[in-house]
Amino acid sequence: MPETPKKFYLTTPIYYVNARPHIGHAYSTIAADVIARRHRLLGDDTFFLTGTDEHGQKVQRSAEAAGIPPQQFADEVSATFQNLWKRMGITNDDYIRTTDPRHKRGVQHLWKVLEARGAIYLSSYTGQYCVSEEMFVDGPPGTIGPDGKPTETVTEENYFFKLSEYQLPLINLIESGELHIQPETSKNEILSFLRGNVNEVMAVASQYAGDFHEEVGKLSEEELLKFALDSDELALSNAKIPYVPGALRDLSISRTTFDWGIPVPGNPKHVIYVWLDALANYITAVGYGAEDRDDLTPEQKQTELAKFEKYWPADLHLVGKEITRFHCVYWPAFLMAARLRLPKSVVANGWLLFEESKMSKSRGNVVRTETILDAFGNEVYAKQFPESTKAERDLFAADVLRYFLLREIPFGQDGSFSFDALITRYNADLANGFGNLVSRVLTMIQKYFDGVIPCPPPESTVESNVRFEYSDEDEEIEVFEPGTTEVGNLTEMLRKVFDPFFDRADFSQLLTFTDAIIRNTDGYITKRAPWKVASTDDRDQLSEILYASAAAVRIVTGLLYPFLPSATSKVWAQLGLGDIEVAAAEGRIRNLEWRGLEPGTKLGPLAPIFPRADKGLAQIMTDMENPATPPAPEPADDPSAPTAEALNAANPATAATSTDHLPLTTDHSPLITIDDFAKVDLRVAQIVVAERIPKADKLLRLEVDLGPNFPRRQILAGIAEHYAPEALIGRKVVIVANLAPRKMRGLESQGMIVAASLGDHGRPSLAGFLEDVELGARLK
Ligand code: MSP
Repeated sequence: MPETPKKFYLTTPIYYVNARPHIGHAYSTIAADVIARRHRLLGDDTFFLTGTDEHGQKVQRSAEAAGIPPQQFADEVSATFQNLWKRMGITNDDYIRTTDPRHKRGVQHLWKVLEARGAIYLSSYTGQYCVSEEMFVDGPPGTIGPDGKPTETVTEENYFFKLSEYQLPLINLIESGELHIQPETSKNEILSFLRGNVNEVMAVASQYAGDFHEEVGKLSEEELLKFALDSDELALSNAKIPYVPGALRDLSISRTTFDWGIPVPGNPKHVIYVWLDALANYITAVGYGAEDRDDLTPEQKQTELAKFEKYWPADLHLVGKEITRFHCVYWPAFLMAARLRLPKSVVANGWLLFEESKMSKSRGNVVRTETILDAFGNEVYAKQFPESTKAERDLFAADVLRYFLLREIPFGQDGSFSFDALITRYNADLANGFGNLVSRVLTMIQKYFDGVIPCPPPESTVESNVRFEYSDEDEEIEVFEPGTTEVGNLTEMLRKVFDPFFDRADFSQLLTFTDAIIRNTDGYITKRAPWKVASTDDRDQLSEILYASAAAVRIVTGLLYPFLPSATSKVWAQLGLGDIEVAAAEGRIRNLEWRGLEPGTKLGPLAPIFPRADKGLAQIMTDMENPATPPAPEPADDPSAPTAEALNAANPATAATSTDHLPLTTDHSPLITIDDFAKVDLRVAQIVVAERIPKADKLLRLEVDLGPNFPRRQILAGIAEHYAPEALIGRKVVIVANLAPRKMRGLESQGMIVAASLGDHGRPSLAGFLEDVELGARLK
């Protein structure tokens, strides 16, 4: 009987729809896609889920600012995510949206189960609420929230989840490894959050102990712990694991201050807390709560419930490091309370940094994935293959980004992104490395063997042509040049190392390894110089060298398949092995035996795989991100944030100060003609994003909407001391739309907001309208 395949269920975080996708989002999705492809080729029944997180106040406010209903707003942004994943060839098996009716039903089902189990109660709460993170934070009014903005005081009648009951169960769950958390730093962070401030209690214990034991310094940690546990005054738990009882407090899980969410069953004044709603996507997507769905027939309900039985629990939740607490504390506690099984593993990725800070919409330092797809697709691939389709270009470019992100940054750590680094890595590892090796080997087989894989002599020891060393201790893989150190053979190596490294998501180490195989095979070819052997009669030797090289190419192509699905499919076809997706599905790239390459295989048509990228591409990508980079040089250093006046100085229309020879107006400004005035393009715009800029006290970063005929633009305004960013959102203002852009604090300002300048200190007061005016209308 054929074995039932093992199931493997993995998820990405579901992305908020208040921001358009950038490469930070693509990072998690790419990593998940690589893992999903790997599991499929291992024969696992793999289910890969991604989606969008669409409820909550943040989304509601963004929709209001955009002047459209939240559902329409969510539809539009969710579609951009879905289209992007399609362009990139992401192989998710489902896409869940928290506004899907199936999800809403599932969440309400979960709520009812939690309520029936006594895990929820109603109470009231006053606290400091951070809107953009959708969470209460500790502190007095005006506390700066995790998003760097002042919190809002919110009093609410709330439903609470009895999270405090799960402190010890959660500590045990994580300590025992039953819930695996990676990296170790995330695990420790979660554990110390769960334990409460054990160190503080131990410090107090040490003080108390001093009253009893003269030589307190001599007490071991164990003795101190015993002392703390025995003492009535110290609140350490008596369990094997020290923790501060009560440190984990109950969690507010409903909101009444806005309505863009899933209504609480039986009390629709409340909407369900967005994180309870969002986390539940992992179960609703695979059928949880289907019994409550009236859109399904009884059979369909059964199918959905069977799907849940089959795939849940998740084998892996991939998440960003900033959201591990939600996944390792709240989520398992909700599941325990609902008596559902728990996920097996939570693996966190680090942050992509751009200009040293986390790439994020609020910082305005994002790199869009589309920029990389368009630049590599059009400037590199299409130049080599002008007849190629857009889909081929996209998939080529997606491979470039996949490889870069996973090779360059050790997974779990933060890493910097730059266009220069992307191009350098592409040229080094893909154009000069993998691509060059493939073309070198296959061209010689074409030339010397009429495009047919030669048969190596039977005594040939091709397997030992690539050697490796691996030590468990330092977990380093080294691949040696042929014939230097004999440690083991490649096939053994794959079994011993590749799988465990994959299981640990150690992608950068795996790609270092594949790169080493590529370089060694190159070195082997150079050393054996087949072109010289070809001029002799020694066909056996020539067969040996070229078979060994082609076999290495096949192995490395199979290993790289999850990372470079598009490029490896071309190499596979050039090797004459057909469709790599079929090979993967049939398990033919599961065990890459050295002799697995059949002599006599006819190569497919040859073509370059990775055309070289020109260094100038970095500038092209920079320009794509900032379409109107000004020709004027950026001020060398801009220590103090410019005021509104400083911004005005950038305006040629107001910068003229030499007035001696002109008649003056009452305001000492030079007279201008109507034509001069006509040069200034004043437009009505609406502020849709307003936020502070770190370390710039006076500057606000604004994004303004100019209606459907013009793109949205970013403006930096020196008004932070006079306007709270929240108060500006939705306000209609006048902007100078044709002001030459300039950069401040690394951000580009693409215009100026018109304001009256009041009092001695020039307090700005923004110009506006009493009537409702159309966005983009010109002022004349
Ligand atoms: N909606 C929540 C997740 C709910 S999951 C039940 C959320 N969304 S998010 O859109 O803000 O972020 C989703 C994920 O995007 C992050 O966890 C992270 O994996 C990824 N990234 C967003 N910006 C990033 C970087 N600059 N760098 C790396 N990844 C980052 O949180």
